[in-house]
Amino acid sequence: MQANEPIAELAQWFQSARGMVVLTGAGMSAESGIPTFRDAQNGLWSQFDPEDLATAQAFRQDKALVWGWYVWRMAMVRAAQPHAGHWALTELATIKPSLSIITQNVDDLHERAGAKDVVHLHGSLFASRCFACGRLHEDVHLPPEAALKPSLRLMPPRCAHCDGYVRPGVVWFGELLPQLAWRKAERCATECDLLIAIGTSGLVFPAASLPGIARHRGAKVVEINPIRTPLSDQVDLSLRSTAGEALCRLVTVLKA
Ligand code: OAD
Repeated sequence: MQANEPIAELAQWFQSARGMVVLTGAGMSAESGIPTFRDAQNGLWSQFDPEDLATAQAFRQDKALVWGWYVWRMAMVRAAQPHAGHWALTELATIKPSLSIITQNVDDLHERAGAKDVVHLHGSLFASRCFACGRLHEDVHLPPEAALKPSLRLMPPRCAHCDGYVRPGVVWFGELLPQLAWRKAERCATECDLLIAIGTSGLVFPAASLPGIARHRGAKVVEINPIRTPLSDQVDLSLRSTAGEALCRLVTVLKA
């Protein structure tokens, strides 16, 4: 392999990095069969209106529609498996224990591939909580697969403590990010010397500001994405590749 091949350059930066951040978005889960949000053909936001499904106002207006849609997504994630890229990323974190994984994803595929201490900026599908009192309700019953479709109407369970309705544990449009998670992400981006953004369109803030924060502080920033994004002009290296291909290749190069 030529030393100037992009993956070899990334491997060199990886080896010399002291602090390292991997920021993942929906494209990280795409090879596990989970749709992204903004893919023109089958992205979730090309088929559904976020105003109807991903705001507190939507939940107030039509709880059954919103809860049914999230239960469909929970079941989809439950039926999916981490792909080779998730496992490769966990291996990278073993090689480089200072590597922090910060994700915008609300699935648990990083954890199911053995990743530890993943920072979830946009919450989790599996941390439902009461809309009224905020208590966690992690044991959500998922109806049999056969009944599951995105247009399923399903009333959310009630909170055993205050009788409020249980809501999905994700961050909706107009809501603040979980502050502990955000503070940790910001600190990691400020202190790292290599940030790799994988499978994100870089359109949703504040998560999309992390690569810029890192670069401003002198870190190398790398993008892994099959297509150009608004981040592409602000990175040191773009790998036009899927998450699975690039991460497996990086592990192979590091082990050679
Ligand atoms: P998007 O759907 O906006 O972007 C997904 C990106 O992944 C695109 O740039 C694709 O080109 C890329 N992609 C697709 N397949 C890929 C693959 N196999 N490997 C690598 N990249 C691939 O998703 P996000 O940027 O994550 O917010 O969206 C950010 C937020 O917007 C989400 O967290 C969600 C959404 O509204 C909330 O739910 C709060």
